[in-house]
Amino acid sequence: MDFNFTEDQLLVKNTARDFARTELLPGVTERDDKAIAPTEQIKKMQELGFMGMMTAVEYGGEGMDTLSYVLAMEEISKIDASVSVVMSVQNSLVNWALEHHGTENQKRLFLAPMAMGQEIGAFALSEPEAGSDASRQRTTAIQNGDFYILNGTKNWITNASEAKYFLVFAQTHPEQGSHGINAFIVERNSPGFVIGPPENKMGMRSAHTHSLMFTDVKVPKDNRIGIDGFGFKLAMACLNGGRIGIAAQALGIAQGALDLAVRYSKERKSFGKYIGEHQGIAFKLADMETRTEAARLLVYKAAKMKDEHKDYSKAGAIAKLFAAETAMFVTTEAVQIHGGYGYVKEYMVERLMREAKLTQIYEGTSEIQKIIISRSLIRY
Ligand code: CAA
Repeated sequence: MDFNFTEDQLLVKNTARDFARTELLPGVTERDDKAIAPTEQIKKMQELGFMGMMTAVEYGGEGMDTLSYVLAMEEISKIDASVSVVMSVQNSLVNWALEHHGTENQKRLFLAPMAMGQEIGAFALSEPEAGSDASRQRTTAIQNGDFYILNGTKNWITNASEAKYFLVFAQTHPEQGSHGINAFIVERNSPGFVIGPPENKMGMRSAHTHSLMFTDVKVPKDNRIGIDGFGFKLAMACLNGGRIGIAAQALGIAQGALDLAVRYSKERKSFGKYIGEHQGIAFKLADMETRTEAARLLVYKAAKMKDEHKDYSKAGAIAKLFAAETAMFVTTEAVQIHGGYGYVKEYMVERLMREAKLTQIYEGTSEIQKIIISRSLIRY
């Protein structure tokens, strides 16, 4: 597979790197510590076109390929994964669903403002009792004339504090199981729609995550995405691409921690020499570099397969599984290399370690990725 980047792809990578260094690095520790939403930083990202990267130009997006998107995700995640997750949910999940499965009217009404950087979108699939087991949706959407009436609760919803448009999944025909689920665009100010307080999370603390409560919320039937019962297939299709974005995020976190560990190894002395000259540290750095590079190849491969319109569901799951495990390994080693300094906020590796943990959990835990990969091997 050829990973010679085009000039456009390199421009995206460099723009994202410069944005991360100049706009995200200052204040990243304080935003995480105090769980301050990166509102100004997201505005800048909207101006730079990062919130509609892969959406066609005709709908206000940048019309870029997936490889450009993962390069940007990687660069931003090296510095601040709380910002890259906002970008990931909007690009890979909400924008993608509308562009590929929305009607022309839905694209003009909902997709264009998001792709142009005016509005934010959120993806509402998970529920208190339907996380990994996503088809057990308890939220209901019952048709009544030209409307659906939504009742239920959603959990762990990224972007909920800022979003205007929520892609909400709900069960319309319980007797049909996953084939009875529908997906809708629900607008923030809909009567009966309440957004709960932010969760107090271990990591990615400035990316606020909320519960959503729906009580008799009226949603126009024109806001349903796809034919009746298409919701679960849509959720799975969104997540196939979403996992490539989170894999790129995990890769960026790993690279960020590796860069910090290398720098520290060349600055810190013990027993009369730089710690990087001790074989115990040097071997750690070599393992961290090897796994990060392997994760990079898997992430770029999955992105290329998506760009080439191949079936990328297994490649995305493999990339996400390996990159998330790598991020956890590399960040833990980076903390160890820093010793006591790794355990305090100033050196940033402890934040990266907390962020890495989430990449093993959301958009499907590592165990879910293994289910997807093994099912592709054992098809009856
Ligand atoms: N791609 C396309 N279609 C798929 C699919 C995939 N990856 N996985 C399943 N399907 C289809 C199947 O083909 C099947 O279709 P038919 O019924 O027509 O044959 C249908 O969906 C049901 O499939 P299964 O019976 O295999 O479904 P399941 O109930 O066993 O679940 C699962 C499969 C892969 C475990 C799924 O439940 C899953 O992905 N769970 C994890 C959910 C998840 O990732 N949630 C993340 C929330 S969003 C988030 O985290 C965003 C954020 O904040 C950052």
